[in-house]
Amino acid sequence: MFNLKNKVAVITGASGGLGEGMAKALSGAGAKIAVLDLKDGKNTLKKLKTKSKYYHVDASHEENVKSVLNQVVKDYGKIDILINNSGIFFPTPVVSTDLKDWDKIINVNLGGYFLVTKYAIPNMKDGGRIINIASVAGTHAFASSAAYNSSKGAIIMFTKTLAIELASRKITANVICPGIFETPMTKDLLRSKETLDMVNNSVPLKRVGKSEEVGALALYLASDESAYMTGSVITIDGGWTCHL
Ligand SMILES: NC(=O)c1ccc[n+]([C@@H]2O[C@H](COP(=O)([O-])OP(=O)(O)OC[C@H]3O[C@@H](n4cnc5c(N)ncnc54)[C@H](O)[C@@H]3O)[C@@H](O)[C@H]2O)c1
Repeated sequence: MFNLKNKVAVITGASGGLGEGMAKALSGAGAKIAVLDLKDGKNTLKKLKTKSKYYHVDASHEENVKSVLNQVVKDYGKIDILINNSGIFFPTPVVSTDLKDWDKIINVNLGGYFLVTKYAIPNMKDGGRIINIASVAGTHAFASSAAYNSSKGAIIMFTKTLAIELASRKITANVICPGIFETPMTKDLLRSKETLDMVNNSVPLKRVGKSEEVGALALYLASDESAYMTGSVITIDGGWTCHL
């Protein structure tokens, strides 16, 4: 249904998990994909149907981001779609969180989105699409995750600001807030009986999400058909936050 032929999509954190799910969905619709990640992306590239290339990047490192995006533009000529998705999570209660750990989470989850967006925008075509992956933790607080929750809440406000600043160029900016999905980030968490019980008892659809389900949503937001949607925050969580 959605056609992304001749579009170039830059996706951070796409060497696995939700990023890979979105890369597959956009590639399936014809987009060329630039996979940006700290982790090697060759396995992801094998699953993509269109021209695609892996770029090693630390999204929280300004010079690194700048030079990688220059290289992407040299290779592909333009950027139509940017998906900021790279992220880290480790739980600690506020009183035992070191400033170093706080800074790390904020710098990667929020600073990384800022840097990649800052250096992508001048190379983006009018009518482009920015999709930022936050979390239900950006709208609902979870214990022992203050830095993560704060970074995800801030992504929402960052995105709304982009929606206003870029509207004159018809570049839209929207946020996806996933609930619990099975990815390398949640692999260990999903082995615990406590988490599985929580999913059964608290997620009305009684299961975790699949990366292709976020992929399908991202595909819509990346398409021409979503042109009137900007500054929106879309939750995809099996109904989990309906009763939080
Ligand atoms: N899995 C879930 O249940 C869930 C729920 C809500 C939100 N999210 C968010 O979705 C996004 C993707 O998470 P995921 O679950 O696929 O996890 P993941 O760990 O599989 O993917 C995150 C990717 O980001 C990359 N990355 C980390 N730091 C980086 C850096 N500094 N520079 C470049 N790349 C970096 C990692 O190498 C990894 O490939 C994250 O932003 C996460 O917070 C995930």
